[in-house]
Amino acid sequence: MKAAICTKYGSPEVIKIENIQKPTPKDNEILIRIITTTVQTGDCKLRDLIGVNTSKTNYNPVVKFLMRVMMGYNRPKNPIFGTELYGRIESVGKKVTKHKVDDEVIVMTDVKMGAHAEYIAWPESKLIISKPNGITSEQAAALSFGGTTALCFLRKAGIRKGQTILINGASGAVGSSTVQIAKYFGAVVTGVCGTNNIELVKSIGADYVVDYTQEVIGSGNIQYDIIFDAVGKTTKNNCKNILKPKGKYITVLSGIAMGKQKDLIFLKRLVEQNKYKVIIDKCYRLEEIIEAYKYVETGHKKGNVIIKL
Ligand SMILES: NC(=O)c1ccc[n+]([C@@H]2O[C@H](COP(=O)([O-])OP(=O)(O)OC[C@H]3O[C@@H](n4cnc5c(N)ncnc54)[C@H](OP(=O)(O)O)[C@@H]3O)[C@@H](O)[C@H]2O)c1
Repeated sequence: MKAAICTKYGSPEVIKIENIQKPTPKDNEILIRIITTTVQTGDCKLRDLIGVNTSKTNYNPVVKFLMRVMMGYNRPKNPIFGTELYGRIESVGKKVTKHKVDDEVIVMTDVKMGAHAEYIAWPESKLIISKPNGITSEQAAALSFGGTTALCFLRKAGIRKGQTILINGASGAVGSSTVQIAKYFGAVVTGVCGTNNIELVKSIGADYVVDYTQEVIGSGNIQYDIIFDAVGKTTKNNCKNILKPKGKYITVLSGIAMGKQKDLIFLKRLVEQNKYKVIIDKCYRLEEIIEAYKYVETGHKKGNVIIKL
């Protein structure tokens, strides 16, 4: 099978397309023919852990060190990146009971990665859902990264109905998910984005929009219950004047969101109720994955970037 392989950390050019052995599923695994996957900021930061910093990695040195211990100190332990995918089951192991051949599934491979390939063997019960009705194959690939991150941080913030929340970076993968999920939880949402994304951010439900090219964040005179920085461009200090006295400031850089099965099920339900739309920007072929990395690393994508296998 073809796969995008990363055997050393560095710039996008370290990624090579190679033919490697197709995996064989174990008894409890399914073999998935991957149809679509994504390149996310997480892939860029991992690829660039000891590198030229093309992804403008904003991990602090301690997080970077811990990431290297976890993901491979000198080179990636798993050379195939990709944290989420949509595909069709091609075969199943002897002990598989929950899935069958031809089922269409969404998997969040998360820190295990392995989605930038034509096939993956995956445990039948781990971070997997059937594809919801009414979404495209591109949206299916990108259901989990932004959505599960948004859920993790909104829970940390303790979001409640009627609260006001300012979401910085509302047009990115995490931000566009957070706007929609915060609305679902009943919050009054102000999305911060650039001029080109104002219509997008309104269209996914933001009640108010602030254009960061026109207004310095933190300089306004409205105060919020929650400020969530979904792109990690502010500090609590920058925002202190627009946070209510008992308000919570939280940034996406303040911890690692791990995927949870219950969150995937939650997102699937939201999609089926038409309350959550996965935003898609550009699509690339696997052979064009270096271009996809470069585009993601501009820091200006809208929602998600897709790889079609
Ligand atoms: N903690 C975790 O577990 C976790 C999980 C996922 C992601 N992350 C991190 O979260 C961050 C965001 O990830 P992402 O994938 O959502 O990013 P992304 O999709 O690449 O974000 C791009 C968006 O951010 C907007 N943007 C850029 N600069 C901005 C600014 N100064 N103010 C407001 N908006 C701005 C861009 O709009 P314009 O084009 O208008 O500038 C663009 O639409 C990354 O650092 C990522 O590594 C952390």
